[in-house]
Amino acid sequence: MRVTITEIKEMKRRGEKIPMLTAYDYVTAKIVDEAGVPFILVGDSLGMVMLGYESTIPVTIEEMLHHTKAVVRGAKRALIVGDMPFMTYHSSVSETLHNAARFIQEAGAQAVKLEGGEVVAEKVRRLVECGIPVMGHLGLTPQSIYQLGGFKVQGKAAEGAEKLLKDACILEEAGAFAIVLECTPAPLSKLISRKLTIPTIGIGAGPYCDGQVQVISDVLGLYTDFVPKHAKQYAKLAEKIKDAAADYITEVKAQSFPTMEQSYTMDENLLKPLEIASSSMGEEG
Ligand code: KIV
Repeated sequence: MRVTITEIKEMKRRGEKIPMLTAYDYVTAKIVDEAGVPFILVGDSLGMVMLGYESTIPVTIEEMLHHTKAVVRGAKRALIVGDMPFMTYHSSVSETLHNAARFIQEAGAQAVKLEGGEVVAEKVRRLVECGIPVMGHLGLTPQSIYQLGGFKVQGKAAEGAEKLLKDACILEEAGAFAIVLECTPAPLSKLISRKLTIPTIGIGAGPYCDGQVQVISDVLGLYTDFVPKHAKQYAKLAEKIKDAAADYITEVKAQSFPTMEQSYTMDENLLKPLEIASSSMGEEG
């Protein structure tokens, strides 16, 4: 049975920390699911760490659905949240409902995530009324980097902190079942986490959130273009992959791979007529 939003909310009530990871493909989703992660985000961060864009802004809904479907096929137990990309939930309630429904109906996700507070509250309310669970996302909201002036910590000043707390309360009231807090100071994240009954899931938001989310490519040490301060590399797969590829190149060039033991055999006598035929063809030519 898949993890439900009720179980995620229960984890907060029990004081049990909630680990979440991103995943973007079948293989990784299967592995992290088997490792026991209860909560997977198919984040639009895939634009940067999988597709090589400079930000999440170019990511399209078709790209998100394509990756979400692969993750759903890989992870059988975790609750899967599909990230709604840039400008797919702003212009109208009906367009938001239509786009969110594609994540649930076409891609098989169990919930969607969208960025922003008060400005998206009406959409959150309607999605929830229609039976689509919604995860909020406050603080550093990467789809607004041009408005925010870059990838910066949010809520350090009193006014910003107050606005974030207010937005968090508005999202809870609108029906969100959890909220990502990205790059918010630890004391503010703690205050928000205590104020809300729904779980806060932090990334760069300190240890007091109800759960943590990390980008899988950071955790695995795969994406090395930029490693944020708040990321922790539990493995260094980029180095391992480079070493493996270099060993492969060396062995192919040295003809030590593949060996005959790794090759498929046949009765070579069957080739004799072909050899004779091809050599006489050569003579004719
Ligand atoms: O896209 C993403 O991976 C995210 C997380 C950083 C929360 O939104």
